[in-house]
Amino acid sequence: MAEEVTIRVNEQVATLAVDRDTPLLYVLTNELRLQGPRFGCGLAQCGSCSVLLDGVEIRSCVTPVGAVEGKQVTTLEGLPALYARQRNLARAPALHPLQRAMIDEQAPQCGYCYNGMIIKGSELLSRKPQPSEREIREAMNGHLCRCGSYPRIMKAIQLASRFMAEERP
Ligand code: FES
Ligand code: FES
Repeated sequence: MAEEVTIRVNEQVATLAVDRDTPLLYVLTNELRLQGPRFGCGLAQCGSCSVLLDGVEIRSCVTPVGAVEGKQVTTLEGLPALYARQRNLARAPALHPLQRAMIDEQAPQCGYCYNGMIIKGSELLSRKPQPSEREIREAMNGHLCRCGSYPRIMKAIQLASRFMAEERP
């Protein structure tokens, strides 16, 4: 049954008339028209729908919208602004360092996994700015790339880490 649900997404507050059990992904894409999170498996298995909830990656395809009330949802679109807040930067960059690094490394092929890889990689870098290769592998373990771009994604995360080390807040 539809009822009013108020959510905060990328620092914007939205009140919607939806069933509280509606997957967050459907609300983000169909109601808020965001294009970062994508529908892949719908079963929490691939990571293409990932978003950050209070800075922690979740699978929006299996998260009821009612469960995120009172929390901060960040999608790919809101990542540079979140990064600026996390790093106390004067202003948000056009792209998160991992987005820049993905481009520099030409990491994605079809790009379908790109959203989840960036969301999860950014979560890792926010708590561990200089991750080891093993830490990167462990963090990215639940994200599937059907094109097999894993080596370039690994390089991109390492490059993003270097970008962050060179940056002056
Ligand atoms: S679509 Fe959500 S994990 Fe695959
Ligand atoms: S680049 Fe195609 S799924 Fe990862």
